[in-house]
Amino acid sequence: MARTIPTFVCQACGAAASKWAGRCGDCGAWNTMAQEGAAAPGSVLSASRKSKSPAAIMESLEAREEERARFSSGVSEFDRVIGGGFIPGSAILVGGDPGIGKSTLLLQIAASVASSGRAAVYVSGEEATQQLRLRAARLGVDKSTARIAAETNVAAIFAALDGAAPPDLLVIDSIQTLWSDTIDSGPGTVSQVRASAQALVSYAKKRGSAVILVGHVTKDGQIAGPKVVEHMVDTVLYFDGDNAQNFRLLRSVKNRFGPAHEIGVFEMRGDGLQEVVNPSELFLSGREVSAPGTAVFAGVEGSRPLLVEIQALVAASPFAAPRRAAVGWDSTRLSMILAVLDARCGVRLAQHDVYLNVAGGLRISEPAADLAVAAALVSAISGEALPSDCIYFGEVSLSGAVRQVGHMPLRLKEAQKLGFTAAVIPAPGDETRTLPKMNLTRLKTLGDLEPDMMAAARAKKREERRER
Ligand code: TYD
Ligand code: MG
Repeated sequence: MARTIPTFVCQACGAAASKWAGRCGDCGAWNTMAQEGAAAPGSVLSASRKSKSPAAIMESLEAREEERARFSSGVSEFDRVIGGGFIPGSAILVGGDPGIGKSTLLLQIAASVASSGRAAVYVSGEEATQQLRLRAARLGVDKSTARIAAETNVAAIFAALDGAAPPDLLVIDSIQTLWSDTIDSGPGTVSQVRASAQALVSYAKKRGSAVILVGHVTKDGQIAGPKVVEHMVDTVLYFDGDNAQNFRLLRSVKNRFGPAHEIGVFEMRGDGLQEVVNPSELFLSGREVSAPGTAVFAGVEGSRPLLVEIQALVAASPFAAPRRAAVGWDSTRLSMILAVLDARCGVRLAQHDVYLNVAGGLRISEPAADLAVAAALVSAISGEALPSDCIYFGEVSLSGAVRQVGHMPLRLKEAQKLGFTAAVIPAPGDETRTLPKMNLTRLKTLGDLEPDMMAAARAKKREERRER
């Protein structure tokens, strides 16, 4: 029997310490250190020497391995995000804020896998089976052959599964409610969450089921977040979206069997989550075409083109240090674009509050949006609207040069499909692919962007300064 010594483990990041502290020394979170039992250091090595445990088998890398056929979840947006369907024996983590729609999505998926003739099991640790049935009725999947259980004990779940052939899909909602009596700490602690996840991942590997683990993103650190199991699973998906808006984005942040950074778009309706086949249309709906300060950005998320509207507002500031706020975009990058506009184009905004918003609650991380942000800003300052049939993309460097970005034909094709006829994009470089026929304006530097508007913006700022 290994001697155990108490350890304090941060429930937010998993860092261990020998003493309790109010604040985790690793991630800086407050009130997250909780006591958990841990094996004494060195105990594993000495134990393996004493007990003759079977040795690991060393194999050659060379052997040929058949890839197991993927099977569809029946929800094509979900299939795309995981790389084309479930791989038997793989583990997927679906993280997201409470109430975002994880249980809804996974119950729909379990039902649609079951309706394709495969075995699907949905284990909920949060809802009773009656609640699950009510939800299924609301989603219109109450005739499904998927099997459900309300259980939180890992051993009890395995006992139920061991009696029959392993299911093709096993959904565990959520990993934070599971507990195992072999671990000496409460449900939701890092050790319980890790041990339960470990057991389920090895079940997937041994028995060939595709396992989905649901993990709530936690803010206060009272229970362990999905981060602590990310390294154990094959695929990590995050489900997010604006709670005020009805659409939800499913993103892959890690995928051992497909491309990461793929996104799927859903809309939350009264009868569950519906797939959004053409998200650009959704993000551009309700656009005010003649309003100054808006520019349409042709972005790419994963392999999918996505048009979004970027909105900017510039107003004279009453403060010595003006406000800069960006929603859906990096505020450091906003400051950078403002500095480039100032230093390279003579558009000074030092005495102005600047607000930037990506319409529809989307978060953009691509530097390719720089040019669209700059266009929205210049339009906001000059008070003139940009042409309504034009899209923008390109990375802006500190020198003011407009640099090439990836997937140019893809971005332009999507814009064309939605009726845009013009595009302002980086100057030709070493492009190998021909671009769709559109009214293209190719920019070398940011100074060449909408010259009339830029001149108007400069003049306006000069005038305002004189008035002061
Ligand atoms: P849920 O799937 O329970 O969230 P999670 O498992 O991520 O915590 O989703 C709950 C929210 O979704 C709830 O606020 C109500 C809403 N909802 C709908 O709008 N339509 C529906 O058909 C369902 C089932 C839920
Ligand atoms: Mg839930």
